[in-house]
Amino acid sequence: MTTTQLSFYLLCYFINTCFCIHLYQITPPVDHGEGPTWDCRKNLLYFVDIHAGNVYSYEPSSGNLHSIHLNGEVSPVIPSKRDPELLIVGVNRTVVAVEWNGNSSDYQSKPLVTVSKQFPMSRFNDGKADKQGRLWFGTMGYETSTSLAPNQGSLYKITRNNLHNPSVMISPVNISNGLAWNKANNKFYYIDTPTRKIVEYDYDDAGGEIKNGRVVFDLSWYSSIKGFPDGMTIDRDDNLWVALYSGSAVIKVDPKTGYLLQIVAIPAEAVTSAIWGGQNLDVLYITTSRYRLNKEQRLKQPYAGSVFALTDLGTGGVKGFEADIVDEI
Ligand SMILES: *[C@@H]1O[C@H](CO)[C@@H](O)[C@H](O)[C@H]1NC(C)=O
Ligand SMILES: *[C@@H]1O[C@H](CO)[C@@H](O)[C@H](O)[C@H]1NC(C)=O
Ligand SMILES: *[C@@H]1O[C@H](CO)[C@@H](O)[C@H](O)[C@H]1NC(C)=O
Repeated sequence: MTTTQLSFYLLCYFINTCFCIHLYQITPPVDHGEGPTWDCRKNLLYFVDIHAGNVYSYEPSSGNLHSIHLNGEVSPVIPSKRDPELLIVGVNRTVVAVEWNGNSSDYQSKPLVTVSKQFPMSRFNDGKADKQGRLWFGTMGYETSTSLAPNQGSLYKITRNNLHNPSVMISPVNISNGLAWNKANNKFYYIDTPTRKIVEYDYDDAGGEIKNGRVVFDLSWYSSIKGFPDGMTIDRDDNLWVALYSGSAVIKVDPKTGYLLQIVAIPAEAVTSAIWGGQNLDVLYITTSRYRLNKEQRLKQPYAGSVFALTDLGTGGVKGFEADIVDEI
């Protein structure tokens, strides 16, 4: 460990102790946890294990963890507005409707549309629903442990009306990630992971349009922070909580000032995403990965791949949005 890294961890420890933050491991490790989503109606946390093709549900009240296996790489998973058991899931480059009650081993599925046909090896990565139930799903190029096919990702907007030909909203990108809307619903935040930047757009909810992208945060401004911004969520004070892949932390950022407000150390190097959940929306659920760790690193990071819950952060989230693109399978 270098002196910089050591002071980084000591600083995190100091800050976290002062705020009395608690961190709990709530699931055993999976390979590549990602895409956490909270459903307020069922009080369920969904997340995916991308390369394994599994969609998980976790019920905090009972601690029950259930999963189904789909045929491909899965991310993200978004429950529907009209039917909580109708999930919209990205499988490879295909948007798939999945009917699952969250605890049985049976499900039904139906493919809805396949995007990015010019990049057959690309796949869906992060995605969210907006207030109108439109889906913003992004893709990324084929990735090995050492390389990424560049410029093969796009951010798509998928609606009832464009279901057979989703609109391209941002392109090209390398790894589509992030995604959050502010409380006033007039700003949209986005991350293309390798850029290490968070970009803010003006957002028009009526038309579902974005414009005037500008950088509001760049990890490179802070030399003590390692890693790459991955998944992201927003709190009720309009601050962003960003997972740092290869950075062993979640950071809190004020997009209005560009200030780094807080660093919370996580006992896994690859932190992939974060979402507010729990009955009071004040638990920050965090997914992590062990996909790229070798044998030795896995021994040193036994919790890598687990989902964690952070409590007592002094803030919380607002209710997320559900998909509204189909009524049934
Ligand atoms: C996803 O890709 C894998 C590997 O190419 C393939 O076996 C599988 O059939 C694909 N699944 C879907 C739903 O297209
Ligand atoms: C499974 O989910 C259904 C639908 O949400 C619910 O009615 C049922 O009680 C659940 N069963 C168990 C064993 O959790
Ligand atoms: C994607 O990555 C490649 C290789 O690092 C880089 O040349 C390219 O500019 C990146 N594309 C975008 C949209 O940032």
